[in-house]
Amino acid sequence: MALLLHQGAGWKIRPYARADNVSVETLFLDCLDAFPWRSGPVDELIRLRQTLRLSRCIVAEEPHAGVIGFLTLKRKSSYVPHLFVAEDWRLCGVGSGLLEVARDLARAPLSLDVDDQNALAMKAYLAMGWTEKVDTSTRPGQRRLTGP
Ligand SMILES: CC(C)(COP(=O)(O)OP(=O)(O)OC[C@H]1O[C@@H](n2cnc3c(N)ncnc32)[C@H](O)[C@@H]1OP(=O)(O)O)[C@@H](O)C(=O)NCCC(=O)NCCS
Repeated sequence: MALLLHQGAGWKIRPYARADNVSVETLFLDCLDAFPWRSGPVDELIRLRQTLRLSRCIVAEEPHAGVIGFLTLKRKSSYVPHLFVAEDWRLCGVGSGLLEVARDLARAPLSLDVDDQNALAMKAYLAMGWTEKVDTSTRPGQRRLTGP
């Protein structure tokens, strides 16, 4: 079931299935190489697995490349714990497509936390019209952003 189809680029967004597990974890660990400030990959992987058990997840898939991005969503709070797009597929609308579908699923503006040091992601969110929100529950070293 496609939740969103990019006709020109050939990728689609669909619900996560258990069979996506290895692809999602591999993509996640590849992306984390660019996050040297984070705790080790083992802790991050444990957190991802917990989130996958308890939350919605959607993936972006291209027929030849397979899973090229994913997003996890805590639907009740409209909070996005994970948004990751494979490096080769960035700046192609995959991230904004995942957020658009998540926004529809949540039926409310989304929020997420960005690491202070993640300047590239911050630029992307600002380009997409996200704004910073003062939130006392945000962890040190992160900023809480709210989507349009
Ligand atoms: C942040 C991330 C999800 C963005 O995904 P993406 O698929 O590249 O984003 P899109 O192609 O949909 O771009 C959306 C907008 O952001 C802009 N943008 C994306 N990356 C950008 C960058 N590095 N610098 C400046 N603008 C950027 C795009 O130009 C686009 O703007 P437009 O609508 O005005 O054209 C992706 O870079 C990523 O996975 N990064 C590594 C993991 C990460 O940091 N995740 C976020 C954790 S909070």
